[in-house]
Amino acid sequence: MAQSFRALLDLCKRRGFLYQSAEIYGGLRGAYDYGPLGAELKKNILKSWWQRNVYLRDDVVALDTSILTPAPVLKASGHVDEFSDLLVDCILSKERFRPDKAPQLQFTKKGDIAIEAPTKEAAMAWKTRIEEQLAPGALVQQEGKQLLLAVDSFEAPAQEGAEGRIVLKSNAQPITVPYHGYVEPGSNSPFLTASRPFNLMFKTFLDPIDPIDRVIQVTKSHTGPGPVRQAVDDALLPSTVYLRPETAQGVFINFEQVARTMNKKPPFGIAQVGKSFRNEIRLEHGIFRTPEFEQLELEYFVAPWEAHHWFTYWRNQRFQWWLELACHKERFRQRDHGAGEMAHYASGCTDVEYEFPWGWGEIEGVAHRGNYDLTQHMQHSSIANFEVLDDSPRPSSDLVDTCDMPDTPTRYVPHVIESSCGLNRAMLAYLCDAFHQIKDGKQQQPRSVLRLHPTLAPIKCAVMPLTGKAEFMPLVDKVTRSLRRRGWYTVVEAQKLKIGKRYYRHDEIGTPWCVTVDYQSLEDETVTIRERDSGEQKRLHWREVQQFVGEQLLGDDE
Ligand code: GAP
Repeated sequence: MAQSFRALLDLCKRRGFLYQSAEIYGGLRGAYDYGPLGAELKKNILKSWWQRNVYLRDDVVALDTSILTPAPVLKASGHVDEFSDLLVDCILSKERFRPDKAPQLQFTKKGDIAIEAPTKEAAMAWKTRIEEQLAPGALVQQEGKQLLLAVDSFEAPAQEGAEGRIVLKSNAQPITVPYHGYVEPGSNSPFLTASRPFNLMFKTFLDPIDPIDRVIQVTKSHTGPGPVRQAVDDALLPSTVYLRPETAQGVFINFEQVARTMNKKPPFGIAQVGKSFRNEIRLEHGIFRTPEFEQLELEYFVAPWEAHHWFTYWRNQRFQWWLELACHKERFRQRDHGAGEMAHYASGCTDVEYEFPWGWGEIEGVAHRGNYDLTQHMQHSSIANFEVLDDSPRPSSDLVDTCDMPDTPTRYVPHVIESSCGLNRAMLAYLCDAFHQIKDGKQQQPRSVLRLHPTLAPIKCAVMPLTGKAEFMPLVDKVTRSLRRRGWYTVVEAQKLKIGKRYYRHDEIGTPWCVTVDYQSLEDETVTIRERDSGEQKRLHWREVQQFVGEQLLGDDE
């Protein structure tokens, strides 16, 4: 599995889906650039999402709000105080990690603790550090890159958050090391700092004066009784802005303007697509977790007594969309969150997950946010009023949880059902889902085929003259223009390669159809159309090609 993921990453780089950002300068950790085909694939996922959630509905409108977000917005939303992960540092390896995702302590068969260093030299330095500072006198044995610590006794924490202990054998008195139920994932080291919250937002400053100059000024002139940190924070606060950690807050603060200018009342939704930023502690699995990523978010505003109905509705709708574009439907699943797992704003949440080569991972969250966000903004802004008047006829439809519905028309703050899909993760999931390595006939080496849904495929059609002879080109141009007029990315593949090789090159990047102009075409204006997954070929009049393609693209002929 891991080997095939490496082969997929290699294909992505070689064929122009994904590059390491700033590679010629050594790269930037966690930053990626999308090559010509990656940009198309990402755009096609977005287009399908937008088609389904905006254009095919009467009740959803668009919005595009600023990435730079004033601090009060994110203070009101709870992100300044609560959008944090716990963070722990390993004193030996200096690795920083999230304790909630870290493994438990592992013992050898003999009951020792084996700590893995990256090199022999590092193991030597760690041994000295343990013997002299962290557990003076402990019995530590080095075997190459590994350190073995002799254990006297061990007590796991009684419950989550409690402290257990590891008692190490020593030359003198046994030594106790506190144990919180996790170790540094790479080394199995239990020598850790205490956990502390780490806010995930990127802070920046909208200020013509360099914020570092302000800090220097404050620290120089600080004579008061309070801590310097407080004085620095106070000086920077007026210019502090954040890169948004989710696109949703831009939607909430514009709720009233959108409803008024578009004459909308709940139930209705606002869709927004764009970049969000999080200073993630652990960047992992290529584009799966990055500091900069794109979200496809839909905030759907409903009356409180209809919220349960709409949560179920959107949970199903969104899962259907994922399945329609999937090759292996069984690799997608829905998972309901437990109470302790939910974000600070949510009262219900279901994730859509994909079975990546390293295990199941979240690709979308569908959450019942209640009226938390709108209420918070009403409380923190002096002018916001997000109440709407419900004057629908009573009793209302079966969508209604009748016990919660007031008897007479009333004003209420809408509840929000949110679906939030990560565009980069969607791309990674669909690439993993589509990637196949197949062996044809006597071939020794397998070849790669991306069985992307035609709607997602970066290039829809490759049009090929059978040979390099000029006589094929007028018909090649005619077919190509007829496909391009429909807005489908179509390329002419006139390289001096055998036709079979050209087909394989397009199988590898997921092109669903190759159209070939051959000698018969010159006589009767028919062409062959070859299908990527079956390899089957049909002969059609060149004018019929666009109808054939259109029928198989989701959304184009809906
Ligand atoms: N507005 C709700 C929200 O942002 P979330 O579960 O934190 O909810 C939604 O994020 C989706 O955004 C996730 O399911 C994931 O697909 C994507 N996402 C979140 N953090 C990400 C990161 N660091 N890198 C890539 N995608 C990320």
